[in-house]
Amino acid sequence: MIKKVKMKIVSKNQIAKETVEMVLENDIISEQAKPGQFLHISVAGHTLRRPISIAHIDRQNKTVTILFKIIGSGTGTLAKYQVGDYLDVLGPNGGNGFPTDLSQEESVLLIGGGIGVPPLYCLARELHQKGVKIQAILGFQSKEYMFYEEKFNDLGKTFIVTNDGSYGEKGLVTDMIEQVEDFDRYYSCGPLPMLRVVKETIHDKPGFLSFEERMACGIGACFSCVIHTDTETGYKKICQDGPVFAANEVML
Ligand code: FES
Repeated sequence: MIKKVKMKIVSKNQIAKETVEMVLENDIISEQAKPGQFLHISVAGHTLRRPISIAHIDRQNKTVTILFKIIGSGTGTLAKYQVGDYLDVLGPNGGNGFPTDLSQEESVLLIGGGIGVPPLYCLARELHQKGVKIQAILGFQSKEYMFYEEKFNDLGKTFIVTNDGSYGEKGLVTDMIEQVEDFDRYYSCGPLPMLRVVKETIHDKPGFLSFEERMACGIGACFSCVIHTDTETGYKKICQDGPVFAANEVML
C-alpha cells in the first residue's frame, strides 16, 4: 500500500556523468518495497512529483537506494538536496514490481539502458539470493555515463555496450543478445525504442518490460501514463498497473 512519508537522505554521490545515487532512510518503505517499484518524490518548486526507480533495498539498515539522471530542473533541484535533508515521498509505487517466481535451476537475462539499469540491479540482487543464474547487458551513451559494472559483475556475467564505443562493445544492447548463453526469461528496462527492439528481438522467451514514463499523479488518478495492452479495456496505467508488464501483454 502506498504511503506518504519523509525519507532522510543518508548519503549522496555523483557516480557517473549527470547521475546521482542517494540512499534514503525510512522503515516503512524499506520494509515494503520490492524490485521494480519506484518512489514518487516531491521536489521543491515543482508541482509534479518525480518517479524514481529503486536500485537497492536494505531492510536491515532500513534504507533504499535510488539513482537518477539530471535531465531537467526537477531532477536538477533533487540533486541539490543534501545529506540530512528529508524528502517528501509517496511509495512504494508500482503494483507488484518484477515477478521473481524463479527457482535455482533457472537463468535470466537482464537488459538495461541508461537510467533503466538501477531497477534491474535491485532485481538482480534478489534473484541472485535465490540462486538464479544471471547474465546482464547494460547500455550507456558513453563511458562517462556508465555505472554499476562491478556490482553487476559480482552477480553474473555482464556485458557493457556504449553508443559511441568509448567502453565495452560499440552499438546497442540488442546487438549483444546473440552472444549470451541460453536463458529462461528476460527482464528489460530502458527507453521505449529500446524496449520495442528488445521485444522484437527476443520473441521465443517470456519477458518482462519496465517502462520509464513521465508521470503526473503517480497513483492512477490522472490517466497521463496509459499504455496499450491486449486486455479488454485496451489500456493500462503504467504508474498503477505497471511499471512492469509481461512483454506479450503490451503493444509497443
Ligand atoms: Fe496519473 Fe498514472 S500518472 S494515472
